[in-house]
Amino acid sequence: EETGKSGYDHYMLKEIHEQPRALRQCLRGRVDELSASVDIGDLGDLSPTGIQFVACGTSYHAAFYAAQLFQSAGIPAQAFLASEYATSPPPIGDALVVGVTQSGETADTLSALREARHRGARTLAVTNVVGSTAARECDHALYIRAGPEIGVAASKTFSSQLGALNLLALATTRSDEARDIIAALRDLPGQVQELIDDSDAKEVAEHYQDAKSYFFIGRGHMHPVALEGALKMKEITYKHAEGFAAGELKHGTLALVTEDTPVFATTVGDGEQATKTVGNVKEVEARDAPVVAVTDGQSDIERYADHVLTIPETHPRAAAVLANVQLQLAAYHTANFLGRSIDKPRNLAKSVTVE
Ligand code: AGP
Repeated sequence: EETGKSGYDHYMLKEIHEQPRALRQCLRGRVDELSASVDIGDLGDLSPTGIQFVACGTSYHAAFYAAQLFQSAGIPAQAFLASEYATSPPPIGDALVVGVTQSGETADTLSALREARHRGARTLAVTNVVGSTAARECDHALYIRAGPEIGVAASKTFSSQLGALNLLALATTRSDEARDIIAALRDLPGQVQELIDDSDAKEVAEHYQDAKSYFFIGRGHMHPVALEGALKMKEITYKHAEGFAAGELKHGTLALVTEDTPVFATTVGDGEQATKTVGNVKEVEARDAPVVAVTDGQSDIERYADHVLTIPETHPRAAAVLANVQLQLAAYHTANFLGRSIDKPRNLAKSVTVE
């Protein structure tokens, strides 16, 4: 088992470090920069008039992000928790239904996809495992090519899901930004590597390992990142953590914010979204909560932050991957300081095959 970890203390840390390679594999042969086009193979006519994503846990956060990509291309798109999809089926019309599932074996997701197919929808599995049940049962499969992931907590597969879902959006919709997005995806593996090499997440983790709760906030693409940051923290540290749309904190949870509850806040750029998030950060700072800014340094969030986890400047879509890597490292190191069973957290299974 030690050999399998290639000298890392845990599979999760190894898999965090494998992300540059995983992202390269995800993109390899699929992107043509010159023509700003994407080729994800013969998936039939996948230019949907509507698209629904079904997924669980980390994969749901990737699905939520994917729905944002399609919405911004003018395509009606929604992400559903797979376990709720079958119990309150949404209208399908001629929507494409996409199951996002690392393992391809998650019972809730398979059940939602079966429900969609039963109601006449075309289905696509976005998965890591070739020949998995989702890949076999769906009309089409798009592989994220992350390689095997042993740690129960998903890390590299989330990044590769975001990469593959960007390819799906680029291949099936029109975007004036296609060239910029493709360039940002090309730069991503190198940027993830630099970020991992220079990250201050370990110091942040050491500082806040005794915190009571952790909150994560972000707007737009940083909202799914906030949800994922909180899930990772909960899963491997066994501490309470919650992620929110940045504007939502003041609608209730602000009552829980104290000097014992660090708030991880992510901003990208210096536009309206970042400015509003900085406004939300001022609200938590006024309640004496420690603020950890995850930022590309363009907004003035650092003025209100106790710690900064830096991400390089890039397109906001790629920034989501980078910000998440900082949060993975913060969760990993916190769990490590607390001596948790990081690769096999209590009560959890890598693949959940019951509904
Ligand atoms: C993530 O860290 C968890 N292990 C969990 O939320 C997982 O993403 C979920 O169970 C879905 O699994 P899947 O991607 O294999 O369908």
